[in-house]
Amino acid sequence: MPEQCPKAQIDLEDLAIHEGAPVLLRRSLAALAVGELLEVRSDSPEFVEALAAWCRKEGHRYLGSTGPHRYRIERGAGLASVVATGAQVAESADASWGLAPRGGKIEQGGPKFAFTLCQKREVWAQELASIYKQGVANQWSAARDIPWEKLPVLPPEVEAAVGQIMTFLTENEFAALYVPARFIPRIHPHYREVVEVLAVQVVDEARHAEAFTRRAEAGGIGLGISAVSGQLSLQTLLEEPDFTTATFLLCVMGEGTFLTLLKFLEEHAPDLVTARLAKLAHRDEARHVAFGMEHLRYVLEREPERRASLAAAVERRSRMLASVSGLSPYVHDALVVFAGRGVSPQDVRAGAQRVSALHRDMDNARRERLESLGFDSGQATSLSAYHTKNLM
Ligand SMILES: [Fe+2]
Ligand SMILES: [Fe+2]
Repeated sequence: MPEQCPKAQIDLEDLAIHEGAPVLLRRSLAALAVGELLEVRSDSPEFVEALAAWCRKEGHRYLGSTGPHRYRIERGAGLASVVATGAQVAESADASWGLAPRGGKIEQGGPKFAFTLCQKREVWAQELASIYKQGVANQWSAARDIPWEKLPVLPPEVEAAVGQIMTFLTENEFAALYVPARFIPRIHPHYREVVEVLAVQVVDEARHAEAFTRRAEAGGIGLGISAVSGQLSLQTLLEEPDFTTATFLLCVMGEGTFLTLLKFLEEHAPDLVTARLAKLAHRDEARHVAFGMEHLRYVLEREPERRASLAAAVERRSRMLASVSGLSPYVHDALVVFAGRGVSPQDVRAGAQRVSALHRDMDNARRERLESLGFDSGQATSLSAYHTKNLM
């Protein structure tokens, strides 16, 4: 049998194995097919023993010396084979791809991860790149971007109303933080754009909770009361096990309703700090709602029959909350005093009218969103009416 010629040569000069020669050996061997030969030249003393040991360890065959300072290696299968994954987003992600970045190469034989959301249609949305880009570009800081020094001393009843509203907002912000945070570790990293958008959403909600708490404390009266009805309503949101249903309840129904609320708070705020906080939070929430809408559109285009299960989820939640339906009187009364800017009968009449208009605006916006997701107007009206009176 004629002797096989080396397919490639490498001259390591006096670079020893312990000095980094394997880096160059691996590069040369990676370019060869299994069974092809590499000729290695080396002036390093005692190179041969170290090279033979290295070949055994890396899964190649050391063939011996072919002359002074010349050695041959046959490329083996290596310790593990490597497969390329496509850069395209796959409809289904394999558990063995693990945490590897999409489009890279993956060594075979790795552990299987327990991600449960491994299908594109379970998590995907259009516009993820632009939602993420806006999210990163629009980060703000409660310490840096809010004119705290301009906070005036408000009449105590108005300041107490602000503190009560901030308490309500903060507990809702926490719910909006925990819901996406619960799902992130379940989503296969192959769908990294979804994980990125949700991670920014979690950061946004942490900032909202911090900023609203800080506003309550800055006014001197402090936080208000957290109502049982609000807590029960938020608990049902936190416990929803299905990603699409949770995204519908949180981002479309809840945060959609909060967009109207935050606009209202900005418009009627008794001070610049509260107005600015409401405006900045509204900008973030608009992005969260955009993700929710895009995800639901993606799912409903492929599975239109899911509209029925989403409607059932809203009704089920409403039944669970039947005993506590109604916005807590603490929050309702605070909104009236906030919008009326006082507690005289005239202030309260004006505030109550504004709060009634707020509820109508919220209902209109919810129905519009539901219709744009393909619910007919009758369904949209009844679902909007079933939405939790706690607003989120
Ligand atoms: Fe928020
Ligand atoms: Fe949000």
